[in-house]
Amino acid sequence: MEVRGLAVYPGSFDPITNGHLDIIQRCLSIFPRVVVAILENPEKAPLFSVEERKAMIQALFAGEPRVQVETFRGLLVDFVRQVGARVIIRGLRAMTDFEYEFQMALMNRRLCPDVETVFLMAAESYSYVSSRLIKEIFRYGGDISGLVPPVVLEYLDRKRRAGDLK
Ligand code: PNS
Repeated sequence: MEVRGLAVYPGSFDPITNGHLDIIQRCLSIFPRVVVAILENPEKAPLFSVEERKAMIQALFAGEPRVQVETFRGLLVDFVRQVGARVIIRGLRAMTDFEYEFQMALMNRRLCPDVETVFLMAAESYSYVSSRLIKEIFRYGGDISGLVPPVVLEYLDRKRRAGDLK
């Protein structure tokens, strides 16, 4: 099945995990192109700057012209309109994601009725993986190999060496 057009996969990606990568691969099997849209949220205090998050994702898709990495501020639907897309992709890991995602999808539909949210189910093996847990486990010396790509491990190691892992 191939759907014409562009899909936007938004998120914080602080940092990107193998669960996110799984969703992007699934997205590419349906949509010809995907824009990974990193939220630049001045209210949140992320571990990685948007530039670092963008660089990690760009490194992962360096040989894949169908994946474009952008950052955005403000409303997601405005960004989606701006790039000319009609589809927002969100990954679902478990039922616990559902309430928040349902609320966001309906609010985005209210704001922009011609944009549709499409949910893709992550592989079960990543159903417990989140950026928040990755950071926490890494901070306390736990093993996160296999849950994030090697480039993310390198960036995390660099943060540790710089003393930025509080
Ligand atoms: O990876 P996350 O943190 O779960 O992603 C959440 C994200 C970025 C998709 C969401 O916070 C978002 O779209 N923020 C932009 C502001 C916005 O449009 N808010 C209204 C959503 S209904």
